[in-house]
Amino acid sequence: MTKLHHHREQFPALGNKTYFNYGGQGPMPQGAMDAITQTQAHIQHLGPFGNEAYGWIVTQIQATREAIASQLQIPSATITLTDNVTVGCNIAMWGIEWRAGDHLLLSDCEHPGVIATAQEISRRFAVEVTTCPLIATLNAGDPVEVIAQHLRPNTRLVVLSHVFWNTGQVLPLDKISKICRDNNSFLLVDAAQSVGALPLNLTELGVDFYAFTGHKWLCGPAGVGGLYVRPEARESLKPTFIGLNGIVVDSQGQPVSWKPDGCRYEVSTSASPLFIGLKEAIAIHQQWGTPQQRYQQILHNSEYLWRQLTELPEVKCLRTSPPESGIVSFQLANQKPLKLVQFLESQRILTRTIVNPQCIRVTVHYLTLESEIDQLVAGVQSFCQI
Ligand SMILES: Cc1ncc(COP(=O)(O)O)c(C=O)c1O
Repeated sequence: MTKLHHHREQFPALGNKTYFNYGGQGPMPQGAMDAITQTQAHIQHLGPFGNEAYGWIVTQIQATREAIASQLQIPSATITLTDNVTVGCNIAMWGIEWRAGDHLLLSDCEHPGVIATAQEISRRFAVEVTTCPLIATLNAGDPVEVIAQHLRPNTRLVVLSHVFWNTGQVLPLDKISKICRDNNSFLLVDAAQSVGALPLNLTELGVDFYAFTGHKWLCGPAGVGGLYVRPEARESLKPTFIGLNGIVVDSQGQPVSWKPDGCRYEVSTSASPLFIGLKEAIAIHQQWGTPQQRYQQILHNSEYLWRQLTELPEVKCLRTSPPESGIVSFQLANQKPLKLVQFLESQRILTRTIVNPQCIRVTVHYLTLESEIDQLVAGVQSFCQI
């Protein structure tokens, strides 16, 4: 048995199906599930409410923050723990002190939750929201140039995904953060499809806000995520939801200031066992390889899939060159995507559709086996022959 086969045994969800929806939700390793239940039991054993339980939880949550920080190459004090990507994006988007007439720039590949938030900000604060066309840069052209053309002197915030959830395109954030900085615009990155998939050094990338989740590529439980706020941007980003976790109180229990670090955007009682589950999931990935090694394996797998799909006459991959991420999206010449997804699901092969552009999205992780990809391709082929 190979190292990967052995490693995969820790993920019960991979045992009874062929899974290609890592970009939707990752399969949780048994160790993470066990850590969650053991943590619940331990907290009940100690308290649940009491100094000993509190002290233990604080230590464990700090260890989680450090585990996340080491994956993102940032100081742990820059992390705000959240529920998911969308909450992190909302903290960054609402926390800016908007002025009427400000401009907010989105790409045309952003998630509906982010678009809706931008629209409500526009309505409430008379902010102008525009969209720059990056979907057309998947195979040709330069996304940095397109963004530069759409920046305005009054652009306060640019919101972009690091990896586009529909096409799998990876944006060159180092260059983009530079042009945003030069324009005095903040850059918020939706990291739903990058954290746990790409090797990252956020300190070097220079982004202002980076919102991620634990439940996709990191394979943690649903309900835990985080937001990185660049230390230099912290004083400009005001807390919107406020509670005891984010404030410093005096001896009379009165609030006196925000916490000095990323905790200032945290609110109140949270699901601490789930964060400990996420820490365990990260440790399990580390057992297999470094973020760089995991990304190389993802690229190996997505190229293996892409090459086979490009050979099928009925299939059109959105990308004309091998993918830069684990996302492989394609269309069929004469069939609706949903029909194929349903056909594959009847064979316990899980994929999904995307509406814009209308396509089938397959996501491969380092956990994916070549034999699973072969199975998928055979499934697509037999569907096309029906
Ligand atoms: C690019 C992108 N942004 C945001 C989200 C929403 O993520 P969450 O459920 O963690 O808020 C997703 C989830 O599919 C996504 O792909």
